[in-house]
Amino acid sequence: MQLTSSGSPATPTQTTGTPTPPTPVVAQLSEAQEHGKSLFTNNCAQCHAITDEVLVGPGLKGVRERTPGDEWLKKWIRNSSALVAAGDPYAVQVFNKFQKIPMSSFTSLSDADLNDLLDYIGTAK
Ligand code: HEC
Repeated sequence: MQLTSSGSPATPTQTTGTPTPPTPVVAQLSEAQEHGKSLFTNNCAQCHAITDEVLVGPGLKGVRERTPGDEWLKKWIRNSSALVAAGDPYAVQVFNKFQKIPMSSFTSLSDADLNDLLDYIGTAK
């Protein structure tokens, strides 16, 4: 005695021939770096590149290594003229090197903003 043979034997699964491509391994920016990127684009990009290229100001590639450090960078970005006026040796040197063009002050950027910004600048290859 046979049971109702309703189901046909396993229908071959249709293959479309296009395997799903592997996710490309591109250098993805973290959320913080994306935030830094938008801060950079909105505030700094008219005068700076994150490469070696000099625009109005120096290219910022490697800036964390050549300047006195993050605390210095934060002071500089918030108010570079104050550092120059105070006679900070590195500030005076970079100011003189760039024809004494004063950089804008960004007093409204928080510590977190500046960390994200510096992290983004650090992604430059
Ligand atoms: C109006 C143009 C201008 C804008 C906008 C500007 N900068 Fe600058 N920046 C300069 C110039 C010019 C210098 C060179 C020093 C000087 O002349 O004061 C400089 C120098 C610097 C330095 C020191 C670089 C080194 O080689 O030691 C850093 C760091 C820096 N800028 C970061 C920033 C960041 C971050 C922003 C955005 C939040 C920004 N700048 C926006 C013009 C600008």
